[in-house]
Amino acid sequence: MRKKTAQYIREYKWSNIFAMIRNNRLDPKICTESFNNKLVVITGATSGIGYHAARKYAAHGASLLCINRNLQKSEALCREIESEFGVKCDYKIADLSNLQDIHQVADELLNLETPIDVLIHNAGVYLTKKELTPEGIEKVFVVQYLSSFIINYILKEKLKSQERARIIMVNSEGHRFAAWGLRLDDLNWERRRYSGLKSYGSAKLAQLLSMIVFNEHFKDTGVSINAMHPGAVKTETGQENGPVYRWYKRNFIDKTLKSPEISAEALYYLGVSKEVEFVSGKFFNLTTLEEPAPPALDKEVAYELWGKSLELSGLQDSKE
Ligand SMILES: NC(=O)c1ccc[n+]([C@@H]2O[C@H](COP(=O)([O-])OP(=O)(O)OC[C@H]3O[C@@H](n4cnc5c(N)ncnc54)[C@H](OP(=O)(O)O)[C@@H]3O)[C@@H](O)[C@H]2O)c1
Repeated sequence: MRKKTAQYIREYKWSNIFAMIRNNRLDPKICTESFNNKLVVITGATSGIGYHAARKYAAHGASLLCINRNLQKSEALCREIESEFGVKCDYKIADLSNLQDIHQVADELLNLETPIDVLIHNAGVYLTKKELTPEGIEKVFVVQYLSSFIINYILKEKLKSQERARIIMVNSEGHRFAAWGLRLDDLNWERRRYSGLKSYGSAKLAQLLSMIVFNEHFKDTGVSINAMHPGAVKTETGQENGPVYRWYKRNFIDKTLKSPEISAEALYYLGVSKEVEFVSGKFFNLTTLEEPAPPALDKEVAYELWGKSLELSGLQDSKE
């Protein structure tokens, strides 16, 4: 671990940090093409970025399949979208912090007869206090990372059999909080002090590492996989935390944030625009290509994490 930290410190470049600061001020590129009759699967569409992204795709004619945890919100969302945009909006209920639910929904997606044109992993959670899932895994790691890993893994052959498919993972500049790399030996934060920023950063870093391996699996196929930072935008994130955090967020953080419509605009561009049709394995700040932090480019750790993720998920590695 110490060796890795030294390696990352050598690899950090000031120019990349300045590029990120510059990119944070840019607006997303806009795509105006239609997406009629294409199917978009999106997780966590009941609020914030996912909600606005769902509306954006629907406004351009796409059919939606939303993976949400809340039945009432899902009903209301689909009614709203169908009546406003005249497109089909379905949902499946899954708690993405529960491995059984993740497997079940992934299998249901696998059994769809129609192609999935765009798959957006958006659902996320930010917790200031450590929580474990029913299976005893740290919750942020499961919702922010392992759920996308399992769904991608189970769907990879289906997606490869299609002419084209794009996977977009709503990641974050927050992956930079895991500046010293991923602690594969302590994913459950038993040997370190837990913090919201650190657990969030680690989970987002893990997702970027998984992209390295998925991108290799999808080489020379019609499938692309990319990750993006959706901007610093005002959403419902953090509502599961205590009153002090929520008060601070409402009165301080929220006042500095932009509208999640910019995130939706970027997600539409990345999912539809011809300009990025053949781009894969990349990190975007909204729609601007950006180099992630050095720990997110570590192939060796990416493969170690891959093995560990298969083990945690109860999946077998099928080499093809
Ligand atoms: N907001 C930002 O500035 C920002 C910056 C960087 C990255 N991001 C990322 O953007 C993504 C969307 O977050 P947001 O800011 O839009 O937050 P949000 O408003 O809280 O939306 C999160 C969505 O995820 C769903 N979700 C949470 N836990 C879930 C679970 N266990 N199972 C299934 N669905 C679950 C929520 O469902 P409910 O409606 O039922 O709660 C909601 O639909 C996250 O991955 C986040 O890390 C956000």
